[in-house]
Amino acid sequence: MALPSDFSSNKNSGPRVYLVTGATGAIGKAIARKLAETGNSEVVLVCRDQNKAEQTVKEIMDLTGNSRVRFELADLSRYSNIRRLVERWTGPLHGLINNAACTPRTRLVTPEGIEMQFATNVLGYFRLIDEFTAILKASAPARIVNVASYWAGGLDLNDLQFTRRRYDNNQAYRQSKQADRMLSAAFSEKLEPFHIAVNACHPGDVNSTLSNDLGFGGHETPDQGADTPVWLATHPIGQQKTGRYYEYRRVANCTFSLDRQAVNNLYERCANYSTGDNMGTYYRKTNTFGMQEI
Ligand SMILES: NC(=O)c1ccc[n+]([C@@H]2O[C@H](COP(=O)([O-])OP(=O)(O)OC[C@H]3O[C@@H](n4cnc5c(N)ncnc54)[C@H](OP(=O)(O)O)[C@@H]3O)[C@@H](O)[C@H]2O)c1
Repeated sequence: MALPSDFSSNKNSGPRVYLVTGATGAIGKAIARKLAETGNSEVVLVCRDQNKAEQTVKEIMDLTGNSRVRFELADLSRYSNIRRLVERWTGPLHGLINNAACTPRTRLVTPEGIEMQFATNVLGYFRLIDEFTAILKASAPARIVNVASYWAGGLDLNDLQFTRRRYDNNQAYRQSKQADRMLSAAFSEKLEPFHIAVNACHPGDVNSTLSNDLGFGGHETPDQGADTPVWLATHPIGQQKTGRYYEYRRVANCTFSLDRQAVNNLYERCANYSTGDNMGTYYRKTNTFGMQEI
């Protein structure tokens, strides 16, 4: 008997494959470990630092006994890195957990010319979903969990990169987490027909580099912070429900997502950053089929 030529035909026989970003951080590492603890899972940590990545993979393998834990290197603030990550991906992807984020105290700009928080926390999420869509479709049913926050608000669609306002990392962070919740709503509608569920959540208040950069600590453990994201990635409800925002496993109102005009506007603006209109100086459009790095 001939073997199926694509993995969508035999997708139920292999492990559930999860991709977790920010897995060297407080909450991301706990998410990756908990997913590795679930039966028959393969967990891919997307990290930007090779030493940290190797150490984290080893730690999770030792703790869980799951040998199907590995890492891929990518700086998620850079579109070029995301595209290369997706290009070298083989096999299915059943769960994409967007968790990596940063909140630098001063305004930083990526080599691609984009303000760092917007590039990582917003475009990073957008581009991973967008670029992995074909693979997620082929692997469906599949899920996307966007780790957002209740600490969100103040989005200015006309100043996504803080060029008009004085940069304040707390304000830029709240804006980025509002955007994550709005993009979850936008993608949930687009991907629902393909059996891809997209939900957002607040993880919990956890002491981390990120929370410290915002001037906070955190009274919850990384495991507590990982609870809702992992629940959404593994519990049947995370597949049955889409376009929702959760706090502590409970669905919560998200007023940001109700403003359809703003949601669509944000989606289009993010899409433009990937098609050449707002690419900064790093890319130039070479032809109708793609971009070339310069
Ligand atoms: N901590 C809280 O109280 C809290 C509350 C609400 C929501 N959240 C959300 O929870 C998520 C995780 O936060 P955390 O507190 O666990 O933060 P964290 O400990 O500071 O971890 C952040 C992770 O993101 C990675 N990262 C940052 N920039 C990256 C880039 N350009 N490319 C690739 N990876 C990058 C970091 O990698 P390195 O290790 O290489 O730096 C690290 O693994 C975030 O989305 C955050 O908004 C956190």
